[in-house]
Amino acid sequence: MERLDCVVKSDMKELLFDEKTIKNRVEELGTEITKYYENDEAELVVVGILRGSTLFFADLIRFVNLPISIDFMAISSYGNSSQSGIVKIVKDLEADVTGKNILIVEDIIDTGKTLKYLLHYFQERGAKTVKVASMLDKPERRLVEISGDFVGFEVPNDFIVGYGLDYNQSYRNLPYIISLKEEVYK
Ligand code: IMP
Ligand code: MG
Repeated sequence: MERLDCVVKSDMKELLFDEKTIKNRVEELGTEITKYYENDEAELVVVGILRGSTLFFADLIRFVNLPISIDFMAISSYGNSSQSGIVKIVKDLEADVTGKNILIVEDIIDTGKTLKYLLHYFQERGAKTVKVASMLDKPERRLVEISGDFVGFEVPNDFIVGYGLDYNQSYRNLPYIISLKEEVYK
């Protein structure tokens, strides 16, 4: 058995979404996003939030059949973002967002605090619209009232990894999405 398969086998609680399921859903989201923006003349900037969104981002934009530009931001939270809600920009945008449509691409909406911060950030900088595409949504953990506009799947209140999502920087390269056994992260 390959090294990665061995790790996954011992750490996995449940296989939540396999490669095919993810691909189909991402294609649906891309089509939905295309329809949503197709009659809007303003420039569309798709902003990936590093690093968790990278796999979703790369797959999603292939299904957005519109002229777009892309940019990235990296955010770090002080301690545990779910407690403090204080986030710091580690890598800022390069694009000027004034008058543009901004589509934020996230891996997962958990407490919602990161997203709340980002929505405010783009609104302050004069974006025309700000929408959110998130591969996953964990609604049970929400602490602020916020929801994604284009959401792949709802997930249970477990620790989720794969398809970009990590635990201590591991598992990001799994092409599928799993939950971890509690003993792995507790
Ligand atoms: P929020 O501010 O609590 O919504 O945090 C969102 C960020 O926390 C996401 O962008 C992820 O990077 C991280 N996160 C939240 N839940 C999980 C999870 O189950 N697995 C991996 N990362 C997670
Ligand atoms: Mg993240």
